Amino acid sequence: MPTAKRIALITGANKGLGFEISRQLGSLGMTVLIGARDKKRGFAAAEKLKTLGCDAHPMILDVTHEPSIGRAAEFISREYGRLDVLVNNAGIMEDSSLTPSTTPLETLRSIFETNFFGVVAVTQGLLPLLLRSDAGRIVNLSSSLGSLTLHSDPASPIADMNILAYDSSKTALNALTVHFAHELRDTPVKVNSACPGWVKTDMGGPQAPGTVEQGADTPVWLATLPADGPTGGFFNSRQPVPW
Ligand SMILES: NC(=O)c1ccc[n+]([C@@H]2O[C@H](COP(=O)([O-])OP(=O)(O)OC[C@H]3O[C@@H](n4cnc5c(N)ncnc54)[C@H](OP(=O)(O)O)[C@@H]3O)[C@@H](O)[C@H]2O)c1
Repeated sequence: MPTAKRIALITGANKGLGFEISRQLGSLGMTVLIGARDKKRGFAAAEKLKTLGCDAHPMILDVTHEPSIGRAAEFISREYGRLDVLVNNAGIMEDSSLTPSTTPLETLRSIFETNFFGVVAVTQGLLPLLLRSDAGRIVNLSSSLGSLTLHSDPASPIADMNILAYDSSKTALNALTVHFAHELRDTPVKVNSACPGWVKTDMGGPQAPGTVEQGADTPVWLATLPADGPTGGFFNSRQPVPW
């Protein structure tokens, strides 16, 4: 897929994986729109990416705030007329010491608001622009912690990572991937879920084994898939993950 002059929006791009995915897409020649809910953090990240040679622009976008999604869509439509890549990266996790039986409903609602409903709202808001692209790509940052198959296997390395709100929000996100991919199957838009692996970020923590460079590889691969690439899949290290 030609990447020159393609327009990519990455949500939650002011730090962590979102920043690194933006850097890698920018270094492929894409214009990268740096989604950030905080103006100062978004502008600082875009400036830093510019110094690294990227065509980066800040975009104020809180995925839980519908008016900000609408304003972003209007701006992209006016400035670029289309969107080629949407990386739904923004995400949050609750205190992982909570057990399913002690997780407050309010916590579940808040995690789903960002990790699931936020992705639905952003995707619905930007889909008309993605459909104007000749090769639209939607990448949803999921996690192997959303895999029901892995959680059901007591021998799986994630079997004891029983984080109800986060894990189930990523399971729901994977369902979103499958359903949007089905709806869009006769269009050039591909929709996939990516697990970056466990990587060092504010969310992943300093003990994580992977780097953001490694974690960004699969999302960037999915954002730049050729026309015969997969859609409706779930991948880690460019390999399928069981649902
Ligand atoms: N790190 C890992 O090991 C790992 C593993 C599997 C999956 N993931 C997934 O990868 C994605 C990125 O994670 P990360 O490790 O880079 O996390 P991170 O360092 O905590 O960064 C999360 C980003 O999301 C933004 N964000 C949170 N809520 C938002 C909202 N309502 N609107 C817009 N932006 C919002 C944050 O903005 P602020 O700076 O304003 O808070 C930040 O930019 C997440 O979806 C996560 O679930 C991470």
